[in-house]
Amino acid sequence: MKYYITTPIYYPNSSPHIGTAYTTIAADAMARLRRMKGDDVFFLTGTDENAQKIVRTAESAGLDPHTYVDGIVERFKELWKLLQISNDDFIRTTEERHAKVVQQIFTKLYEQGDIYKSEYEGWYCTPCETFWTENKLVDGKCPNPDCGREVELLKEESYFFRMSKYQDRLLKYIQDHPEFIQPASRRNEMIKFIEGGLEDLCVSRTTFNWGIKVPFDPKHVVYVWLDALINYISALGYPDGENYKKYWPANVHLIGKDIVRFHTVIWPIVLMALDIPLPEKVFGHGWFLSKEGGKISKSRGNVQDSFELIRRYGSDPIRYFLLREMQAGMDGTYSEDDLVERLNSDLANDLGNYISRTLAMVVKYNDSKVPSPGPDTDLEKELKELSSQVMATAEEKMLACDPAAALEAIWQFVSRCNKYVDETAPWNLAKDPSQRERLNTVLYTFVDSIRILGILCAPFMPGVPEKIKPLLGGGDYYGDWEQAAKWNIIPPGTVIEKGQPIFPRVDISAFTEEEQGSTGTSQGEGPQAPEKAVTPQIAPIKEEISIEDFAKIDLRVVKVLKAEKVEKADKLLKLEVQLGEEVRTIVSGIAQYYAPEELVGKKVILVANLKPAKLRGIVSQGMILAASEEGTLEVLTVQKEFSTGAIVK
Ligand code: MSP
Repeated sequence: MKYYITTPIYYPNSSPHIGTAYTTIAADAMARLRRMKGDDVFFLTGTDENAQKIVRTAESAGLDPHTYVDGIVERFKELWKLLQISNDDFIRTTEERHAKVVQQIFTKLYEQGDIYKSEYEGWYCTPCETFWTENKLVDGKCPNPDCGREVELLKEESYFFRMSKYQDRLLKYIQDHPEFIQPASRRNEMIKFIEGGLEDLCVSRTTFNWGIKVPFDPKHVVYVWLDALINYISALGYPDGENYKKYWPANVHLIGKDIVRFHTVIWPIVLMALDIPLPEKVFGHGWFLSKEGGKISKSRGNVQDSFELIRRYGSDPIRYFLLREMQAGMDGTYSEDDLVERLNSDLANDLGNYISRTLAMVVKYNDSKVPSPGPDTDLEKELKELSSQVMATAEEKMLACDPAAALEAIWQFVSRCNKYVDETAPWNLAKDPSQRERLNTVLYTFVDSIRILGILCAPFMPGVPEKIKPLLGGGDYYGDWEQAAKWNIIPPGTVIEKGQPIFPRVDISAFTEEEQGSTGTSQGEGPQAPEKAVTPQIAPIKEEISIEDFAKIDLRVVKVLKAEKVEKADKLLKLEVQLGEEVRTIVSGIAQYYAPEELVGKKVILVANLKPAKLRGIVSQGMILAASEEGTLEVLTVQKEFSTGAIVK
């Protein structure tokens, strides 16, 4: 089976952001899953460079458009690489291979009478690259609810495309092919729009010359949307390239909801006029909105640097968050706090911790070797059945362009695996020699379930198999989707490794602190210097120090007088502590483990000569000591009646 999937081609007028990355990540996950199914996949993305707004942005940057777009296109390519996007091609509309197909199609449509010359008089919105008639404007501005910006009056000689001629044929096609426009709500909007009547479309411009020239009338450049849509076939080598013959029609054009009209009205009419089959499906997903409500977009100024986000959290967590957060057809909300929350709960805790704790048991109870399993009980049977159900559901949801639902199904399996650990309680089995065979079955099931999790996660987070592979003895088990429903694959005797947690927990305040330009000094379990933002499960013993080095640390007993939560930082507590005569403020990352009132009156240990650091705008004058490991923390206290300020050594 062939599978051809495309993303929109992005305007390189500014660097890509989280909103624009969503479509590419989602298409990548779909492409990866189909490849794992054995399909012959072609996954296309690229850049839409011949827009008038590009000329304007380049001008204001004092650059010629070519130099300007070359720089931004590199940013796109770099980002896709960091996000492990597996596109098979990247098309730029300034490439000759594209321009020549656009010119050929324009000429053909002109020669067959579908394009004619006339004069355009009306309005143009450059940010949207859209023509508007006077009666559509809202208060004289662009009627696109996401835009509302100034429009310009155009009066110029133009070529027009006879859209009206194809109106009835298109309407019938949409009605006869319910799968063509998805989700259904967008389909209904489009039906209404077409029923309202289609006007012929202006398809050339003469007031600037950046773009693809109309070959028989070179003072005209082709309208950017007609030019851009053609990328889906020019990249395949239309009309007679091998890839065109093999992959067209596309299985899915994955796009955002704002550009559904271009893809389901203009594009199918162009294809009908060329007598080419239509794509199977155009799926218009929602937008990522900021917490405040607006679409994440450069023009709204609410975008965060995607490169910085990847540096902070890694590519897989960002992919996971975006895919999980956008429910099919609806808008999603993006915030860094929510991203960290998901990372810590779904990835570090549910998935990562399952892997660490089960492998630790194989290390402990079977000397790091995968045992031979004994007979299955109902618990194993249930787990095995669930893995094949989840595999089928995830696959079906991905064909329906719904990665959030696919991940939800996979996380049901993750939860079931965690429950299996509690139900089987291997720590009890290990105490009873007569339960050795049962213990072996449980340990084996752990290891094989981790292999399955590696497969199920692979399309969404391609880094997961890479991380799991060395833990499970280096075998290459992750490229075939169907293997997620098969068990007893890992050979008994394989030596496993516990390794480091595959998704260490992250403390967002470490990064917030970094932004404030502080020294990033470690404060208890709270914010740490950026490179130490993750909490290792077994911290390696640090470099040896002398007694003189240790003597530099001034540890004192202090009494907690007051404790309260720090606003908008769910991990931080603000403490007031008594140190002799002095009262100090300490910010400590222990809010998840203590209610503020639990600490009041306790005598704790303070690193009293630590350089103050600012956390969430509060100056922390030292830090208190605590013992901690994955999931648990205890502040060190003294029980006897020491006075505050007593030395600890
Ligand atoms: N160049 C055209 C597409 C031509 S396709 C033949 C274009 N480019 S764009 O860069 O403005 O937008 C590209 C895609 O990014 C659109 O599908 C748009 O919906 C998507 N997104 C831009 N901001 C977004 C969010 N905040 N959230 C999700 N997707 C968003 O339109």
